Amino acid sequence: MSDKKTGILFLSHGSRLDDGEDVIKAYKEMYEEEFPEAIIEYGFMEIRKPGIPETIKALTEKADLEKIIVVPVFVAHGLHTKRDIPGLLGIESDFDEESVSGHHHHHHHDHDDHHHGHHHHHHHDHDDEKVEFDGEIVLTEPLGVDTRLYEIIKDRVSDNL
Ligand code: NI
Repeated sequence: MSDKKTGILFLSHGSRLDDGEDVIKAYKEMYEEEFPEAIIEYGFMEIRKPGIPETIKALTEKADLEKIIVVPVFVAHGLHTKRDIPGLLGIESDFDEESVSGHHHHHHHDHDDHHHGHHHHHHHDHDDEKVEFDGEIVLTEPLGVDTRLYEIIKDRVSDNL
């Protein structure tokens, strides 16, 4: 068996407000409590630090890794999980730019939490550094449709009936 280890990155969108960090940090700490040996960080794809390159670097500084599993803590796939995050990680994506022509700008103007009008610029603002990792990076599926999430959605309704 190889001595090389696997790192884990819980990835959140990123916001100027603290709420998102409180949540992703809590999940990271829950994971560490359950798996004390885990080599894990949390980070953000944009807007907030730590970003993707620095969290990957932090993981590689903790251990000799052969693989990093990146979990996008997003409910569903979108441009960020299909295009932006693979781009920042420097991994292959099956994203087809043609498939969203026309929706592209709409998305960015919808987002009031960050400066999406400058999508290509803010990557430079945030990520001057590139991801440096010569092992395998696995980007998992987002949370998706799951009865465990459905239970929470139902609670939000029933708590307010
Ligand atoms: Ni966004």
